[in-house]
Amino acid sequence: MDISLIMHAAEVTDRAARACLGFIGRGDKNAADGAATDAMRAAFNHVPISGVVVIGEGEMDEAPMLYIGEEVGAGGEAVDIAVDPLEGTNLCAKNGPGSMTTLAMAPRGSLLHAPDMYMDKIAIGPGYKDNIIDLDATPAENIIALAKEKNVSPEEINVCMLDRSRHQDIVNSVRSVGAKISFITDGDVGGVINTAEAYTGIDIYIGRGGAPEGVLSAAALKAVGGQMQGRLFYEEDGDYARAEKLGITDHKKKYYLNDMVQKDAIFAATGVTCGNMTSGLIGEGKGYKTETFVADSMTGKIRRIIARA
Ligand code: FBP
Repeated sequence: MDISLIMHAAEVTDRAARACLGFIGRGDKNAADGAATDAMRAAFNHVPISGVVVIGEGEMDEAPMLYIGEEVGAGGEAVDIAVDPLEGTNLCAKNGPGSMTTLAMAPRGSLLHAPDMYMDKIAIGPGYKDNIIDLDATPAENIIALAKEKNVSPEEINVCMLDRSRHQDIVNSVRSVGAKISFITDGDVGGVINTAEAYTGIDIYIGRGGAPEGVLSAAALKAVGGQMQGRLFYEEDGDYARAEKLGITDHKKKYYLNDMVQKDAIFAATGVTCGNMTSGLIGEGKGYKTETFVADSMTGKIRRIIARA
């Protein structure tokens, strides 16, 4: 992909974040999400791409914009677009840590079209030999394997996971080898990316979260390096139809990072509330300040852009 798209991606998430300014801490997550979505949709009009939304706000009949299949961009390189205009809507509404506006861009046809359902996920950052983690192994086994690779004891491994009762078996398995857990209340895109940034102290992400967020996280890891596996979790009958509509027929498939993101990727996220990855959006008089994390697999760089306007 043209590397000038890196800055365009950062500008799109910046504009979406700015639109959230009046919604931080005001208790209305849908209004915040709507504002981010409107602004993101408008910002795409200035991007020189012929984009198709493959992960978006829902299906055409349920989302007015950034729906799956919607064409975006001013014309140019053919790309797939994955968006979560406001990742962590509750975090924004409650002024909790780590809500962000996010998008990923990849050459047309190279992103998994993940349905709106759950995915079981496991991820680690870069620098390890291939396949030391395995979604089909127990959390304890994965922690022991990772600890061996890092040459530390399992007690020193820090696992990030969403704080959900469905994760109790994972928690028990992690505790059985004495490892630490960093619980997050929401926002597992950031949770996965944190495994790739040593300063967060997070070694591994394990747990069930949104499948669309899984693909966004995979795009970020593709750019910054790391390993990830995911498997769709079918909770209700409607999930099968939803997956099949997107061409998924193997319901047990274990997706590796390169299955979810088959070619290069650009990932951008602008902080709405302050979190591990970025500082939060700050209003400055009539202006604002944002911090955007943008990474791409072409240059392999992570850029953090502070914007003031
Ligand atoms: P929203 O931004 O749509 O509110 O999603 C936040 C989130 O925490 C995701 O990061 C995560 O993948 C998913 O929700 C987990 O879903 P659930 O809250 O149902 O456990």
